[in-house]
Amino acid sequence: MMLGRCSWFSPLCFLLLPPFLNQSSHAESIASYPEGWESWPVVKESQTLPADTVLPPDASLFTQEAVEAYSWINDGQGSPLTIRVNPEKLEAYKKHGPYSDGPTAVAVSEIPGFIWVTEHLAGMPVYGSYNRKGEDISGIHPTLDPDFCDKCHTTYQEICRNGTCTNLVLETYASP
Ligand code: HEC
Repeated sequence: MMLGRCSWFSPLCFLLLPPFLNQSSHAESIASYPEGWESWPVVKESQTLPADTVLPPDASLFTQEAVEAYSWINDGQGSPLTIRVNPEKLEAYKKHGPYSDGPTAVAVSEIPGFIWVTEHLAGMPVYGSYNRKGEDISGIHPTLDPDFCDKCHTTYQEICRNGTCTNLVLETYASP
């Protein structure tokens, strides 16, 4: 499993550990389920990568950790990921904010159908995870806990600004 492949000098491994040691805590989404996200414009088609992905030797630590965190999705086979942005926030999104309040963007893991939500409240990003029925699924896996989302989206400030991360690592190796 993923901890076995963690290297101890890696900052994200420390981020990965607490949720695993604390599995009994009950996670709840903070961002609410944004009705109508299905019709938001698609800004990127990406993917969560299969567990056996061989990354290029120069892949950043961030890339490696992002792949490891979600390699459990779809039994390790990866999934298409569709990123959609609230049409009212498209201009802000292109510049990574600043964002007005309300739902900002979703990343949809098409298999098995996870809706990852980023919303802004008082200018700060908050996160949530839902299934296609709008049911909160943030308690089903440690990596779906909003605290876990927040740590990655906040720690890598050179990649994620104001809580949004797109246009980065994944596209450098996503195509076959
Ligand atoms: C290991 C780091 C990491 C974690 C943990 C993480 N994300 Fe992300 N997130 C990313 C990256 C990288 C992208 C950009 C993906 C791309 O460009 O293909 C992204 C993109 C997104 C997007 C699309 C909008 C954007 O540009 O940021 C949303 C929405 C999102 N994440 C929500 C979440 C939620 C909700 C969680 C927790 C359930 C979460 N993320 C956990 C790294 C992470």
